[in-house]
Amino acid sequence: MAIYKKLPRFFYDTSTSVPVGCGSKDTRPKSKNTKKGGTVLIWMLGDVHGNFDHVLETVKASRERPAAVIFLGDLECPAPFSACVAGIEAAGIQCWAIPGNHDTDSIENYLNLWGDPLFKERNLHGRVVEIAGVRVAGLGGVFRGEIWYPRQGMEKPVLMGWKDFVDQQNGWKPTRLRVGVTQLTTELISRDGVLRRHCSTIFYEDWLRLYGQKADVLVTHEAPCCHPHGFGAITALAQSLKVNFAFHGHQHDSLNFRTHDSRLGFAAHSVGFMGITDGFGGRVRVGSFDEAFERAYQKYRNERI
Ligand SMILES: [Fe+2]
Repeated sequence: MAIYKKLPRFFYDTSTSVPVGCGSKDTRPKSKNTKKGGTVLIWMLGDVHGNFDHVLETVKASRERPAAVIFLGDLECPAPFSACVAGIEAAGIQCWAIPGNHDTDSIENYLNLWGDPLFKERNLHGRVVEIAGVRVAGLGGVFRGEIWYPRQGMEKPVLMGWKDFVDQQNGWKPTRLRVGVTQLTTELISRDGVLRRHCSTIFYEDWLRLYGQKADVLVTHEAPCCHPHGFGAITALAQSLKVNFAFHGHQHDSLNFRTHDSRLGFAAHSVGFMGITDGFGGRVRVGSFDEAFERAYQKYRNERI
């Protein structure tokens, strides 16, 4: 159900730091999947890097309660995912996530996500899931040159998928792995730095699995091309999915991409460090570095004009 298609333009204006809809009549579409009279509300959570308390604090301070929240990567869970989000889940808010590059930095970071049964169920990477009546496509991780680095969008992958990568590792260093793809367990991967690192790498096959499906929203860790450090392949994926909104983390900023909307065909939003944005792009909680990044970006743009 492409409910976002019915939204007027001004409902995803990011030029304000006030949550969209506040102070005026809320005309957003009602969801059948939320309690009677409630609005469709999914919150996008920028990189938390081990911090979780601000989510419930924001829920308590907000007039609106989300049906679900989506972590946009780099959770760096200090405990298993299910334990980190237990309070949020207990409040009746579903927690979904995509992984980020820092989620494979250490054995602990990795096992707290991939070793957790709730994360296995709620990991959006490489699939489209209907959450509170909204079809959400997820692509976690980052592009890495030794696998695929599509800044423009059309660059050829070095390795197509996880199997090719494992085969390459076995071929190049036969004494290091000595196991096939199907024998790799979470425990084995966690102890091998190279394998673990590439669990947060975007493979071409992951991207291709989503390409051409239909979704309302795309959530990624990497940014689309409108961001100074963005990738054409994220833009192409969002366009193929025919999404109306794309949200990303990773950059710790929250830049205003509104002037790119018509060129892209969707509204792109970056969500800052510990920032929270609703499913329409309105800022619910300003990220820790948002204002500093915005000033630097405007200065950069003015100097180029
Ligand atoms: Fe990141």
